[in-house]
Amino acid sequence: MHLLKILLKTRLHQFSHGKILQLAYKLMLKAFSMQFGSQNAWKTPATLMGSTRFATFPNSNAGRNALTLYEEIMRAFQIPTKNAPAVVHDIPKPEPLPGEVRVKIAACGLNFADLLMIAGKYQEIPEAPFTLGLEAAGVVDAIGEGTDAPPLGTRVAVFNGYGGLAEYGCFPAICTVELPGSMSFTEAAAFQIAYGTGHVALDYKARLQPGETLLVLGAAGGVGLAAVEIGKHMGARVIACARGADKLAIAAKAGADHLIDASSGDILAECKALGGVDVVYDPVGGDQFRAAFRACRPDARILCIGFASGSVPRIPANHLLVKNISVIGFYWGAYPRFKPDVVTKSLETLLQWHADGHIAPHISHVLQLEQVQDALELLRARKSTGKVVVTTG
Ligand SMILES: NC(=O)c1ccc[n+]([C@@H]2O[C@H](COP(=O)([O-])OP(=O)(O)OC[C@H]3O[C@@H](n4cnc5c(N)ncnc54)[C@H](OP(=O)(O)O)[C@@H]3O)[C@@H](O)[C@H]2O)c1
Repeated sequence: MHLLKILLKTRLHQFSHGKILQLAYKLMLKAFSMQFGSQNAWKTPATLMGSTRFATFPNSNAGRNALTLYEEIMRAFQIPTKNAPAVVHDIPKPEPLPGEVRVKIAACGLNFADLLMIAGKYQEIPEAPFTLGLEAAGVVDAIGEGTDAPPLGTRVAVFNGYGGLAEYGCFPAICTVELPGSMSFTEAAAFQIAYGTGHVALDYKARLQPGETLLVLGAAGGVGLAAVEIGKHMGARVIACARGADKLAIAAKAGADHLIDASSGDILAECKALGGVDVVYDPVGGDQFRAAFRACRPDARILCIGFASGSVPRIPANHLLVKNISVIGFYWGAYPRFKPDVVTKSLETLLQWHADGHIAPHISHVLQLEQVQDALELLRARKSTGKVVVTTG
């Protein structure tokens, strides 16, 4: 009777077919919950059907946008509609398309870019609804038509730019890298972007040489700390600049030879006292870029990696000319598309360095998917060092 009243009150012609289906399904669940006395209609079928849960949510990716009933669902951290806040909620478990694999995700590495995407300020933001999380690691648990590799059960890391903050994700098979048995999922989720960026930038772009002086800004952050380790392993003398004694201690542990406290020190004076710098690795921008620029020796290379300070530097071209300085823009996320060989070769080198014990991700915090907002707040408040990883287990 109650259901009949709701139906009579509802002007169905105002709704799309999808909305009507959604409404019908919600009514069905309501009836179900009234029948079985559940507090939460969404949970009732799950309790009765074991691991299978139901959802009416539209899926996140192109090609999977149909409204679906009676699908298995999973937890995902999504931006549900354009400009809406990101939330953890239930969506249908995706099925891999041709050329894709589905990964049962164990861990996802957070990045400053997640904050930028949430704020609508990142250079590449997928169309909503989409799942956040640029890089992840887990096990291949389904493969799409015509996909040969990696086979079911393979432990992989995946960089796709989004889709990692969920229990499952479907990704192009070419975005996956098979993991050595020695690397945990948590480490793997913290590896690709930080080390990939540091290695391609310092080796391929800036041609850092043994004995050169490398200045790393934001040296206790995700990409900064990895650059300290890589620079040191490449034979450079490394100056690490970070805020406060605790962060500097972590940079020293990663191999930095000299430390500058960004909150109290004078970057220009301290670098000059050390004879100036040959290569600058800059994920911060703003005032720190300006000081580093002035601390450059002739023939120096400055890698523009990011602008965590929020301030994009203006570069005086006349000073570049006079001092023979090169400023190099570098965005690792674009390389897998236009020069995949560079990235593949770099990851092979990095995995070998990891296996040989030369590099090891420093992960300051590991939190659960349901705590992802707290995990992001650690980055936003500059409380993390190295990487923050979110697990789904
Ligand atoms: N080009 C690429 O391919 C690439 C790849 C990855 C990341 N990035 C960029 O690199 C930057 C760092 O990324 P991440 O993931 O390493 O981030 P992260 O772990 O949060 O590290 C950022 C570091 O920047 C420093 N920082 C200085 N001023 C800041 C401010 N006002 N707000 C926040 N942090 C500030 C912080 O160090 P202190 O507290 O010690 O000052 C912090 O440790 C971002 O801009 C990101 O987009 C670029």
